[in-house]
Amino acid sequence: LASIEVDLAKIEAGSGIKVAWRKQPVFVRNLTPAEIKEAKAVPVDSLRDPETLDARTKPGHENWLITMAVCTHLGCVPLGITPGENRGQFGGYFCPCHGSQYDTAGRIRAGPAPKNLVVPEYSFKSATSVQIG
Ligand code: FES
Repeated sequence: LASIEVDLAKIEAGSGIKVAWRKQPVFVRNLTPAEIKEAKAVPVDSLRDPETLDARTKPGHENWLITMAVCTHLGCVPLGITPGENRGQFGGYFCPCHGSQYDTAGRIRAGPAPKNLVVPEYSFKSATSVQIG
């Protein structure tokens, strides 16, 4: 499908889901206030791939982090979308293949991956519905 619609209503803060879009996995994560604060506290200049949380989310919806679930190293699916999974030392995602670690904005912080998790094209259809693609 060129685009998909995702219902956000049942995704609790701190949790998320993995959906399929154009045959690729996408993470849809509801960040907690603490995770948002953590992402905003990082000096952007210090990042390997410098981007703010604001640049990676939509205005008024900064708790919704929507990224490709594809590690930018060699394409494995990172862990961390489900609470209890290994999220690595930066609280976002951990790639089990070669140990890349992403923060709560999905930005690469350690390990071999060169880039942040890619943010796909998406838009909000309502407060609880998002269209990806
Ligand atoms: Fe993720 Fe290599 S594919 S660290």
